[in-house]
Amino acid sequence: MKKDNLNDPNPQLVDSYHLPFGDHPDEYIRRFERIRTHVFASADDGSKAVADRVEALITEKSRKGEMCVIGLPTGSTPKGFYAELVRRHKETGLSFKNVITFNLDEYYPIKPEHRQSYNRFMWDNLFKHIDILPGNVNIPRGDCPREEVSMMGQEYELKIKEAGGLDIQILGIGRTGHIGFNEPGSSPNSTTRLVALDSLTRQDAAADFYGEDNVPRYGITMGIGSIMAAPEIYLMAWGEAKADIIRKAVEESVSDAVPTSFLQNHPNATIVLDLAAAAGLTRIKTPWLVGPCEWTDRFIRKAVVWLCQKLNKPILKLTDRDYNDNGMSYLITEHGPSNKINIKVFNDLQHTITGWPGGKPNVDDTTRPERALPFPKKVVIFSPHPDDDVISMGGTFARLVEQGHDVHIAYQTSGSIAVSDDDAVRYLDFVRSFKSIFNVDFDADSFYQSAAEFYKKKDAKTVETNELRQIKAAIRRGEAKAACRFIGVPEGNIHFMNLPFYETGTVKKNPATENDILQTMEFLRKIKPHQIYAAGDLSDPHGTHRVCIDLILEALHRMIGDEWIKDCRIWLYRGAWQEWDLDKVDMAVPLSPEEVEIKRLAIFKHQSQKDGALFMGSDKREFWQRAEDRNKATAILYDKLGMAEYEAIEVFVRYKLA
Ligand code: F6R
Repeated sequence: MKKDNLNDPNPQLVDSYHLPFGDHPDEYIRRFERIRTHVFASADDGSKAVADRVEALITEKSRKGEMCVIGLPTGSTPKGFYAELVRRHKETGLSFKNVITFNLDEYYPIKPEHRQSYNRFMWDNLFKHIDILPGNVNIPRGDCPREEVSMMGQEYELKIKEAGGLDIQILGIGRTGHIGFNEPGSSPNSTTRLVALDSLTRQDAAADFYGEDNVPRYGITMGIGSIMAAPEIYLMAWGEAKADIIRKAVEESVSDAVPTSFLQNHPNATIVLDLAAAAGLTRIKTPWLVGPCEWTDRFIRKAVVWLCQKLNKPILKLTDRDYNDNGMSYLITEHGPSNKINIKVFNDLQHTITGWPGGKPNVDDTTRPERALPFPKKVVIFSPHPDDDVISMGGTFARLVEQGHDVHIAYQTSGSIAVSDDDAVRYLDFVRSFKSIFNVDFDADSFYQSAAEFYKKKDAKTVETNELRQIKAAIRRGEAKAACRFIGVPEGNIHFMNLPFYETGTVKKNPATENDILQTMEFLRKIKPHQIYAAGDLSDPHGTHRVCIDLILEALHRMIGDEWIKDCRIWLYRGAWQEWDLDKVDMAVPLSPEEVEIKRLAIFKHQSQKDGALFMGSDKREFWQRAEDRNKATAILYDKLGMAEYEAIEVFVRYKLA
């Protein structure tokens, strides 16, 4: 395995790496880690490194005329790894003729051809694109009769043995800490068996199955013992959502509460992470506890905020002793004494606060986050779904409008997938009443009847018709317009982009294409904004926010020579799932209690997303509650650091193009 590759491609969006520098041996840097762990700048880089190792092993075995036996996972994590293996097969001739695979697990009960079965996943993502012999593919059978499951488990184990045992095992990790479907409580010597899925695991799978109720309650999984028998193990994890469980598995002691921690007892297990999944590790989160660091301004801010939180003290009360006692004596030596550092960080944070997100005219703007001129500004707020604008920055949005800026809202996707079937039927029923009210002649009745029938029969496999999708999109358009009207945006400034990548009719979206980028460029060139707000939210469970921000950044980079871009600032907000860490924040917009109320009412306009929306993730709070809790928590944090006490604060990170 290559050494860590940390050339961060987008340092403004992911945690940068301020690792202890100098000539420290690996063991020193990793001394908090109980499993060998490699951190890569991106999931792509990590996937390629694992593919390198697998390719090397297959080739080595093939040279010796031996079969290579590989244990494989499913889920979102290994997709890039499989794509890389397929690419190597097609482009460089990597052959899988000498490969035997054993998949870790399968839902139970489930038919092999079911859209969400792991069997289907494996054929779609890997097997049908390579030259593996179908007889060499092994996947636990989700359609095996209940009374035969235990026997099948034993046979699966036997088959692994007969194949000569696993040569290498590839894993992902669930948020419960599971490997395979070995949920918390699994015993270290368990073998292939039927298990009940943890409720968090079922929630995580809910979107794929169109609701938690449709997720199978059981799974068949290779045991911890079966996995640990492989002489070489790689576990991959990507994204912020995995950071917490990775920290527990890697840095805390072995416990069956976190099954992945059993890998600490394996002589040759490696954890492969991207920066986001590594964010909880000591060497990334609080590297000053590991050794000397490179103290940039933002990094000092991060360390000081951490220290204040740890000691429950405001910035200006931190002493040399506080720094020294908490692993920051190097900071004091290089940049101290403490009061000098304190004042610098205090001022720096103070300057992030502004009630004028579009810039304040006629004042000195040297220490303000946004420039005073031009005033008013042309502003574009991109919203991945039709409600992210108000959920994530409703207060700032209202301020910008109130302060006289020309605010345009661009809804990137229709959001139709998140409207329940029941809501669609309800609206169709409503439309039926137009017939008698307006005495018009259209066949709303039969459309209503056929839609109601369709939804009755619909299951996770059904693709919605274009018409029904459009009805759901219209519901969301109506809600978004209502919220904009409430805030005071003229109708002509509301833009529904309906980006094509989203319009598949199923939860699974297409990859973004050139059309999505060109449409985004065309839109921006029409408006030529002075300010752009966009969702820099990378932990959206369905990846839509991720695609949306990538599209905007790609479009902007392609237009970098345009005159208007030179005078345009880009501000990133975070969506419903997470807030920016304070060390990254460039602008903080405080909200009064009345503004918090306005924001809440604007979110309420999105009725289809209230009271148990389809894609809430595992957090049971409604979107408005999450937004309020988060904005209030930020205000409390500023207050505790010794700044003014506000009701709520929305924060933004500035993205610099060059
Ligand atoms: C699936 C498996 C599971 C997944 C884990 C992570 O075969 O073994 O342990 O690896 O649930 O799933 P994703 O990658 O979808 O986050």
